[in-house]
Amino acid sequence: MQIQRVQQVQPWIGRPETEAIEACLERNWLTEGPAAAAFRQNLGQLTGSPHISFAPNGTLGLFLALLALDLPRGSEIIIPGFTFMASASAAVFAGLKPVLIDVDPNTFAARPEAFERAITSRTSALMPVHIYGQAANAAEIAQLGRRRGLAVIEDAAQACGVRYRGQHAGTFGDVGVISFFADKSITMGEGAVVMARDPALARRISLIRNQGRESSGTFVHEMLGMNFRVTDLQCALGNAQLARLPQVRADRLRRYNLYAEALAGLPQMRLMRLDPNSDFIPFRFPLLCPRMPELREALENASIQTRSMFYPLHRQPCLQGLIDAVDLPICDTLFGEGLCLPIHQGVSDEDVRRTCSIIRHTLMQESVAC
Ligand SMILES: Cc1ncc(COP(=O)(O)O)c(C=O)c1O
Repeated sequence: MQIQRVQQVQPWIGRPETEAIEACLERNWLTEGPAAAAFRQNLGQLTGSPHISFAPNGTLGLFLALLALDLPRGSEIIIPGFTFMASASAAVFAGLKPVLIDVDPNTFAARPEAFERAITSRTSALMPVHIYGQAANAAEIAQLGRRRGLAVIEDAAQACGVRYRGQHAGTFGDVGVISFFADKSITMGEGAVVMARDPALARRISLIRNQGRESSGTFVHEMLGMNFRVTDLQCALGNAQLARLPQVRADRLRRYNLYAEALAGLPQMRLMRLDPNSDFIPFRFPLLCPRMPELREALENASIQTRSMFYPLHRQPCLQGLIDAVDLPICDTLFGEGLCLPIHQGVSDEDVRRTCSIIRHTLMQESVAC
């Protein structure tokens, strides 16, 4: 019997999504309209954010937020070295210099103390990143920002529905961004939401994203802006997906626990520590193992697609010359030993058991490197 390949990423799409998009087409309203209004309202309820705008994706959402913050050109923004490239590229395109810090070896998020240590007279902003489905301690990082007069922009790309001590990720600082890319817990295909605290900042965001004017159809532009708008089709998709979030959360948690139980007791393996202050909606099943390359190969040979963890930002070729040289040993270890297993709705319990038995079998064999 042919085994079906287990993909790393697979959106969960069905009738509700098709019907929502068909309704848009039948209304013949394609730009941000009724579906965007409904999605904005539902996201407001989910996150508690008073000011919500959409962006074409998380990367441009971060860029838009930084443009609106209007931080001094060449000033420094402190960013964890363990994140997707977009956290840093948005900052560079906004004229800022990323200063990279190491992360906690257990939760993989940068701690408030690490941000504090990196602050200099050149710092203008802090960017906590919520990683792998749990929230960083953005509450304390936002307090630090307020105490030191620094902007706080939260990269909550991976954290839709995730709360820290009951408050939604991305709503602690001045502004936060959630991505709805196709690999996220829920998706718009491409898309993001930008959440601002302050009405004046929210207004700047809404002007910049709409060509520097209050509403489309007018030709007087109060300020220079761009087009960061999305379509009603994307919002209809996002809204249908949002209704699935409780089920996605429950199913992913169940699958996470299945993985964790089946891998328990393997001495060469370490899992991410779950912060009791944070909710958890697993984004992947991340694990650390010094024999990660062997595991990756064995799983690939069994048609199970895995993914490595982030290549550390301080080693990214495109950032050389734009950042100062730093040593980030935890980021290096996470890249060297980290492996992500798929956890989406298309992964069956049988897939989880098969994956774990391949991992056990591989680790029980002599290491080829020895
Ligand atoms: C931590 C983090 N930041 C930013 C982004 C960028 O979001 P997008 O892919 O929507 O541009 C991602 C996306 O995968 C991410 O994981």
